Amino acid sequence: MRIDAFLSVSALLATLQGVNGAPTGTGTNPPLRGSENLLGYSPSNTLNDENTDNIQYTPVPGQNEDAKVAPYLDFENSENPQPIRGDTGGTDPGPRNYYYDRINSDKLAPPGTDNGATINAMWPMGLSHNRLGIKGSGWARQQNINAMPDATKMAGVDMRLEAGAYRELHWHVAAEWSLVLNGSVRIQAVNENGETFVDDVGAGDVWFFPPGVPHSIQALDNGTEFLLVFDDGSFSEDNTFLASEVFLHQPKEVLAKDLDLPISAFDNLPGDELYIFPGTPAPKDIQEQNVTNSAGVIPQSQSYSYHFSEQPAHEVAGGSVKIIDPLTFPIASSFSAAIVTVKPGAMREIHWHPTSDEWTFFISGQGRATLFTAPDQATTFDYHGGDVGYFPQSNSHYIENTGSEDLVFLEVLQADQFTDISLGQWIGNVPKQIVSDTLRLSNESLNSLKKEKQYVVSGKYPSS
Ligand SMILES: *[C@@H]1O[C@H](CO)[C@@H](O)[C@H](O)[C@H]1NC(C)=O
Ligand SMILES: *[C@@H]1O[C@H](CO)[C@@H](O)[C@H](O)[C@H]1NC(C)=O
Ligand SMILES: *[C@@H]1O[C@H](CO)[C@@H](O)[C@H](O)[C@H]1NC(C)=O
Ligand SMILES: *[C@@H]1O[C@H](CO)[C@@H](O)[C@H](O)[C@H]1NC(C)=O
Repeated sequence: MRIDAFLSVSALLATLQGVNGAPTGTGTNPPLRGSENLLGYSPSNTLNDENTDNIQYTPVPGQNEDAKVAPYLDFENSENPQPIRGDTGGTDPGPRNYYYDRINSDKLAPPGTDNGATINAMWPMGLSHNRLGIKGSGWARQQNINAMPDATKMAGVDMRLEAGAYRELHWHVAAEWSLVLNGSVRIQAVNENGETFVDDVGAGDVWFFPPGVPHSIQALDNGTEFLLVFDDGSFSEDNTFLASEVFLHQPKEVLAKDLDLPISAFDNLPGDELYIFPGTPAPKDIQEQNVTNSAGVIPQSQSYSYHFSEQPAHEVAGGSVKIIDPLTFPIASSFSAAIVTVKPGAMREIHWHPTSDEWTFFISGQGRATLFTAPDQATTFDYHGGDVGYFPQSNSHYIENTGSEDLVFLEVLQADQFTDISLGQWIGNVPKQIVSDTLRLSNESLNSLKKEKQYVVSGKYPSS
């Protein structure tokens, strides 16, 4: 665009005169502010000749369908994606970020069934500040109420530890539930009875540390990445109680008395927190790190780890589901979770969790969800691997696979049991007359409703 498309020659000259005696420009360089002559109508005003009405684009499959049918629009390879669905919307001439538009088609061109304003239920970890560990040892990034102000019940951290690296010994006020995403890691803790715990966990396994219980985390040979979920939306990974800091902030006289050591024992304490740092590789034989005392080890029934990777998934029509909750992992008394795999075209059915908000992490693939909030608000969000979702208690949602690969995600609840209510099962078990009078479904439709919970429904995509 040329500058003279915006300013007529007379207006340009006027700008050179400055405003209220402000310094004028020098030479051909105009001053910072324009002339008062630019205010309002003047016969010498001109319009630029830009035409915003001849924007060329090719609709993607489904884009011309009725906006309330609203199949997923795949803008990933669209040259010029437009905020248009059926006969709603219009072209976008403007300032825009094609990267976001292409992966958030339900934001650019929302279904006609979306309405009003819900909470924001999506945060990509890729937009979180990444805290880098020292000397190539790893990193951590988090989602909490600073990123998603309405996600008050849970927060999450995505952490990487390179081979042998530590997340420094620490504890925190919140309870910590973790899913190992890649590699393997040694975890160790001491509880309030002095009972000890050590275990090696790998991708797909889960651990839990109760509030206040100090623990250590060290990556084994091949490094690790894991996801941490905390039972407090305002949790911050930057505000944990670190071993280095607790030692740095006691008088050395007190430390010496406390541990019955000479003051010189503390000459080499690190000058600052270590947080994520390289370590001596963990011994291969875990027994070498199995420290015990008269209290013994933490009993198996109260174990801080659960080898969830070894639990086979329960197959359902459109994919598979596996659940971990206090019925089998009792120490994590308020964490209930499910890992759901949704095949291409399939969908985690419309449901809600009657007792808890849901914190969701997308592990791989892509999907979309509509959050429905009473009385009539609905927003559709698009998700990819590495994104966080959040669905408040009893607010309905589905998660539809919108890609060509399996969609895998984790649902986490604050509940002593994993429960959900399925819209399909509900409607399928209400007397037909009531459903017919209310929703005006045909007898044929009423007769094909299912009575059983589906979890994940299969389906062709895009649906015809
Ligand atoms: C880490 O796990 C994710 C999710 O299962 C997987 O897609 C990815 O390939 C894994 N990365 C490596 C390096 O194995
Ligand atoms: C590291 O990976 C190698 C193969 O690349 C495997 O043989 C070994 O068991 C892994 N070590 C751990 C601790 O998982
Ligand atoms: C640690 O040693 C105790 C016995 O003192 C044993 O019961 C426990 O299984 C050991 N833990 C590991 C991880 O080997
Ligand atoms: C639907 O079924 C009900 C109950 O069996 C029956 O009374 C009604 O006539 C049916 N409606 C139609 C349109 O067939």
